[in-house]
Amino acid sequence: MQVAIDGPASAGKSTVSKIVAERLSFIYIDTGAMYRAVTLLAIERGVALSDEESITTLAKAIIIDFRLIDGVQHIYINQIDRTDDIRTPEVAANVSAVSAIAGVREQMVALQRNLAGEHDVVMDGRDIGTTVLPNAKVKIFLTASVESRAKRRQEDFQSKGINLALAQLEQDISARDYKDSHRAISPLKKAHDAVEIDTTNMTISDVVEAIIAVVKKNQEKN
Ligand code: DC
Repeated sequence: MQVAIDGPASAGKSTVSKIVAERLSFIYIDTGAMYRAVTLLAIERGVALSDEESITTLAKAIIIDFRLIDGVQHIYINQIDRTDDIRTPEVAANVSAVSAIAGVREQMVALQRNLAGEHDVVMDGRDIGTTVLPNAKVKIFLTASVESRAKRRQEDFQSKGINLALAQLEQDISARDYKDSHRAISPLKKAHDAVEIDTTNMTISDVVEAIIAVVKKNQEKN
C-alpha cells in the first residue's frame, strides 16, 4: 500500500510520517531529504545554483540510501552518512531553487517510484499525491499556520544548539511556501482526492491517529 503525505515546510510531515510508517510496519521515504541531498552536493562542489545542467548531471549520478539505525532513519549520500548535513540553514535556503530544476525532479521522481514499487511505503513531500504516486490509496495533505510552523522549526534548531529569530523563520517559511507553490513543475498542491488535516492545534499523536484512521478506513473498504 502507498500512503502519500504532502504539505508545506514544517507542517509536521516527517515527524508524523515516521511514526505512521512504524505503526503500519511500512518503509518511510522522506523525499525532501532527497532534494536536500542534491542541494548539499551542489553547494559542496561549488556548482552555481543557476547551472541547471551541472546540477542535473549531479542528480543523475547521486546514490541515495535510507538506512534505519537504532530506530533512527539516516540518509547516506554516495555511501556516507550525511543525516545532519542536509538540515543546515544553508541547505534549507537553497533547496527550493534546486528542486525547481526539471532534470532534478525527473531523476528524483524516478527514484521515488522505484522505492515505492518495492515496498509498502509512507512517502512525504510536496507532489507525492499529485505526481509521484497519483494512484496512492491514501493521500493526506497536512497544513498549519505559518506562525506555528516557524515555532516548530525554531524548536528543532534550538535542540541542535542553533538559535534563530522567530520573525526570520516566519519570513523564510513564507518565502519557501511561495516558491514551492508557484514553481512551474509539480508545484505544492493538494491532490483533489487528498484528506486535508490542519495540524495547527493538534498534537503529534492526534495527527498520527487521524492518519491511521484514514488508512484503516481505506483498508476496510478494500
Ligand atoms: O520537506 P523539506 O523541507 O525537507 O523539503 C525540502 C525542499 O524540497 C522544499 O523546499 C521543497 C522541496 N521538495 C519538493 O520540491 N518536492 C518534494 N517531493 C519534497 C520536497
